[in-house]
Amino acid sequence: MELRRKDLLGIADLSPEEITLILDTAASLKEISTRPIKKVPTLRGKTVVTLFYEPSTRTRMSFEIAAKRLSADTVNLTVSASSAVKGETLADTAANLQAMQPDLLIIRHQAAGAPHFLARRLACGVINAGDGMHEHPTQALLDLLTIREAKGRLHGLKVAIVGDIAHSRVARSNIQALTKMGSQVTVTGPATMLPPYLETLGVRVVRTLEEAVAGADVIMMLRIQMERMGQMYFSTLREYSAHFGLAPRHLALAQKDVIIMHPGPINRGVEISPEVADGPYSVILDQVTNGVAVRMAVMLLLLGGERG
Ligand code: CP
Repeated sequence: MELRRKDLLGIADLSPEEITLILDTAASLKEISTRPIKKVPTLRGKTVVTLFYEPSTRTRMSFEIAAKRLSADTVNLTVSASSAVKGETLADTAANLQAMQPDLLIIRHQAAGAPHFLARRLACGVINAGDGMHEHPTQALLDLLTIREAKGRLHGLKVAIVGDIAHSRVARSNIQALTKMGSQVTVTGPATMLPPYLETLGVRVVRTLEEAVAGADVIMMLRIQMERMGQMYFSTLREYSAHFGLAPRHLALAQKDVIIMHPGPINRGVEISPEVADGPYSVILDQVTNGVAVRMAVMLLLLGGERG
């Protein structure tokens, strides 16, 4: 029960069989988080370091919780209080962390390719927790687990991904993961946020939210990534919301058992109305719960531990 790789850098590297192995492992590990004592000795003696150069609530906390549930020792480097602020390079920071002999380094960085850069230089495993606008592989895996739990399958499902596709590593990882697993993906958003290469990824591109959600089994809303925009990509938030904000009226166009997803954090009232985000079709908090299980699975499979 092992991924035959040192690192998890992107969905692009994973085969459908590896994705299924991670999802099956995560599904079997979920039960640990419901026990009175939420801990197994599987990764006892292993050291997991988290290195987040960008803010995070869900990813960072769930990696740390996941590692603790597997009995690994966890260490967080707070980048704003580290020697990075004195000008230490990423390569030097990583080399110094490596010298302390961790088993896994989990990195989020604003630069696409930063985890790959470290993976080539470090003996320990590296997990990409989000690199710029490139990939967020564990987010896509937890999204697939959530969809599979709700629908019982991935193959043949109609999935609409809506919003700021251009700046979204979540969209890039999900498009790859869903198409590899046989889902039919439709994307939409403001024309300025739909990169021209999208159709080469095997997705259908449509102009309106109504077209995208028609008949959808799954609707995945994306956050507008203001922090990655050097310019405005739409006139006003009100206009964005009027055209691409998911509201209760849109749900009538989708399948009766549609599920609504969002990776978080949510801009309430912009890309999704509070009624939908908190409504009966929303699985947004299930995604967060599954984040712990998926990250447990990835760490266990990379480090080759036996389940306790
Ligand atoms: N979904 C996600 O990556 O959330 P955080 O930025 O809070 O980690």
